[in-house]
Amino acid sequence: MKNVDSAFHVTGRSIYLDDIVVQQGTLYALPYDAPSAHAHVKKLDLSQAMAVPGVVRILTYKDVPGENQIGGIIPDEPLFVEKEIHFWGMPVALIIATSEDIAIQARKLITIDLEELTVITDPREARARGELIIPPRTFKLGDTKKAWAECAHVFEGRADTNGQEHLYIETQGAYAYPTEHGSIRISSSTQGPTAVQRTVARVLGVPMHKVEVDVTRLGGGFGGKEDQASAWATVVALASFLLKKPVKLAMHRMDDMRMTGKRHPYSSDFKIGLDKDLKIVAYEATFHQNAGASADLSPAVMERTLFHATNSYFVPNVEVTAYCCRTNLPPNTAFRGFGGPQGMFVIESAIAKVAQELGVSAREIQRRNLMQEGSEFSYGQIAEHVNATPAWELADKTFDFDTQQAEIDTFNAKSETHKKGMAIMPICFGISFTNTPMNHARALVHVYQDGSVGVSTGAVEMGQGVNTKMVQVAAQVFSIDPSRVKLESTNTTRVANTSPSAASATADLNGKALEIACNAILDRIKEKASRMLDPGSSPGQARPEAITIVNEAVLNNGQSTDLDWQQLIHACHWDRVNLSESGHYATPEIHFDKTKEKGHPFAYHVYGTAAVMVTVDCIRGTYVVDAVKLVHDFGKRMNDAVDIGQVEGGVVQGLGWMTMEEIVYNDKGRLLSNALSTYKIPDIHSVPKELRIETLPTDGHPMAIRRGKATGEPPLMYGIGVYFAIQNAVIAFRAERGEGVAHMVYSAPYTPERVLMDLYG
Ligand code: MOS
Repeated sequence: MKNVDSAFHVTGRSIYLDDIVVQQGTLYALPYDAPSAHAHVKKLDLSQAMAVPGVVRILTYKDVPGENQIGGIIPDEPLFVEKEIHFWGMPVALIIATSEDIAIQARKLITIDLEELTVITDPREARARGELIIPPRTFKLGDTKKAWAECAHVFEGRADTNGQEHLYIETQGAYAYPTEHGSIRISSSTQGPTAVQRTVARVLGVPMHKVEVDVTRLGGGFGGKEDQASAWATVVALASFLLKKPVKLAMHRMDDMRMTGKRHPYSSDFKIGLDKDLKIVAYEATFHQNAGASADLSPAVMERTLFHATNSYFVPNVEVTAYCCRTNLPPNTAFRGFGGPQGMFVIESAIAKVAQELGVSAREIQRRNLMQEGSEFSYGQIAEHVNATPAWELADKTFDFDTQQAEIDTFNAKSETHKKGMAIMPICFGISFTNTPMNHARALVHVYQDGSVGVSTGAVEMGQGVNTKMVQVAAQVFSIDPSRVKLESTNTTRVANTSPSAASATADLNGKALEIACNAILDRIKEKASRMLDPGSSPGQARPEAITIVNEAVLNNGQSTDLDWQQLIHACHWDRVNLSESGHYATPEIHFDKTKEKGHPFAYHVYGTAAVMVTVDCIRGTYVVDAVKLVHDFGKRMNDAVDIGQVEGGVVQGLGWMTMEEIVYNDKGRLLSNALSTYKIPDIHSVPKELRIETLPTDGHPMAIRRGKATGEPPLMYGIGVYFAIQNAVIAFRAERGEGVAHMVYSAPYTPERVLMDLYG
């Protein structure tokens, strides 16, 4: 089935936040943000800005009727600066004007006197100063301290990854207007409508039922709107609430880049030990997560780093510790993979280090250590339905790693200026929110009397295609044409207490809730059909189990009848059968005990293996990705276009993070890569020349929607292979010149500048 949104997207008819028809009297909001990363505010002067004609009001923390606090996990994040600034870009005030242009003019006239304080941007320095947001956490399996003695080889090293700007095409924004009885309605570009509702209620000092949040769709989220949409919805809600006017904010790109957090940079140390057969015996890692100025989602992101610290490998002795380090950067946040990729990069670096030091191929180490059925993860979950080796073997069989490597070696022997490199990247990603209580969802289904269907769920459509999957679920359960099903906006008054659309779990959780609701309606209409087709029977004698609906035809004992879907629904309505239902689904089986750091947190894991080939120009340090060929564990693929699209996008976003996306703050904590002229993301020239995606044939997983596994986050991590493929090309170049690689560090992004330094350093 085609994506229900594609035609509207490409013809410009889809309605994003900034496309909502504005109401008469709408005012425009613009944040004035801190021009320093750490300072005391001595004096804030708004008088000149207030004097600009068209400026209606300028709000500060003093105008907040409830709490000036938006921290979700930990209440450590003021909405507006009070006395102290914690990061460059922190909102200080909100200008409300009759037009955006006037607000921009007024912003230039605000002055602030500051007493500058010490700025920390480095997570290791933060840890050394005791600036931790939560106490460190450690996941442990076996006993690494004892295990080192059993190892034939032990290596240590350091691996760093930089952040990543979400760069959703649609920037952050919200539009609020007052409704009756002191209530407020907000259209928000958020992955978490309930998070917005809760935050607005807290800041306004009103109960949640006074706040309605509506989301039609987002022009991208990638985690950046899981928590960080709330601030912007809250400031417009505050303005609208106080002024009793509609108020809108659609952020400018540079404002968005400066004021919002990004993927967490990590600086990590590793120690790895192997036996003489290259089996990994022990692995230790220390992760320094650069959390930024407040918690935001950092503790949860840090947790996922620990969950994925050993990627696809079984390691009998593991000890991994993570530090959530407070720095004076914008609070870093969720980003596709949610800390998992940062953890996986470190063990892949450790394996690369072993390969370089011992002169063996990394893929031999990888292959020998893949998770097997019944292997234990460091967090206590026993691996079941393990597809690590099957994915690897199918990839090897299909793409022929040895032949690929031989071709690369032949090329390298002939070419002086260009070298090719290959790396294999296996992935293993757990599906479920690691915070178990978040794993539930609701759906509300109305079958209208004409047989058309309206579906509301807690799922937010952000380009990932979840609406299409929800249409498929309803159409398949009812066995009706998908054109009869409409996905409504995500709205907190229709579906309440939603978890954010995140953790790759949105289609599973909301789809299962939707199945439950549709099945309940289906049972009632079958009961009615049975009575209609067997008129002598009383309600107690009806045999609904004999009724099936197939492609809108109503069958009785498998025989066709004169009744179809539309007639049946019409009859149900006039017989007062309830054609609406709410479904609730909570993921079974999962649990996790944070006091022991053990449990069974994931419904299932997604596996896959990618082979990555690159060519490095050893004169310039530039490179092209020749191919990414992968076998992915889709389960029973539910929608080819949506699922393949997610893998393609994930690979490209992952290789962008690994190679070119470079976030730079100066030592004062000011963002230098603050526009698309200074922050480079993949374009059509940087995508792999060949991107081949094969499906691992399996029966799928019963806890995945329609047995089709989650595809949101896992494929991003194939991009990590690009880093190591480039590095292998660099190693080939150096080897030819008789130079070692001992100086090489593991630090992404591997920009052409860094490649040059590795080639000749
Ligand atoms: Mo996603 S990174 O779990 O919002």
